[in-house]
Amino acid sequence: MIKINLRKIKLSDKNYFAKWWRDKELLKLTSGILKVISDQEVDKYFQVILENKNDYNFRMIADREVIGHISLVKRRNNWHETQIVIGEKKYWDKGIGSRAINILVRKAKKIGISNIYLEVRPTNLRAIRAYEQCRFQKVKIVKYPKNKYLPETLRMELKI
Ligand SMILES: CC(C)(COP(=O)(O)OP(=O)(O)OC[C@H]1O[C@@H](n2cnc3c(N)ncnc32)[C@H](O)[C@@H]1OP(=O)(O)O)[C@@H](O)C(=O)NCCC(=O)NCCS
Repeated sequence: MIKINLRKIKLSDKNYFAKWWRDKELLKLTSGILKVISDQEVDKYFQVILENKNDYNFRMIADREVIGHISLVKRRNNWHETQIVIGEKKYWDKGIGSRAINILVRKAKKIGISNIYLEVRPTNLRAIRAYEQCRFQKVKIVKYPKNKYLPETLRMELKI
């Protein structure tokens, strides 16, 4: 079985992120914004992640390969939001996303976090299935009428 690890993000991960942030198939499943970002923008966004002291950002490692990004971001009222992207597509549909989320949830529990949610494109059935396997429950559709790239999301929640 493939071994999965989550490790704190470091500067040398930037090139993986740059590749994933420019991948149209991934962008269609996530933000929906397909405009190619410049090297300067990559530097800026990556620096924000590196310097952030409040949130948790991990690179996902399968055996020894860096394959994706998973995060846990502090939100209002004792909630944390998680996001996950397996950038290396050959690792999709192998149960790795579900396992990575479960590892993150265990880490969260250890540090006293008890409410986790996520928002997912309602058409992203693979992701929704993976989240359900991790016991996230569908709660409601959230509307963003001003966002033409992602006008609505499905909110899913897990209480640990
Ligand atoms: C979403 C993601 C993290 C899930 O991780 P994963 O390792 O691929 O998912 P898992 O293998 O753990 O689970 C996927 C489940 O969806 C199922 N599935 C795949 N395609 C599906 C589809 N079109 N419709 C319904 N279910 C589907 C799989 O069969 C599997 O369920 P099963 O174990 O019952 O067979 C990963 O695919 C990914 O990063 N995708 C691209 C970016 C993305 O969409 N991120 C989420 C943004 S909210």
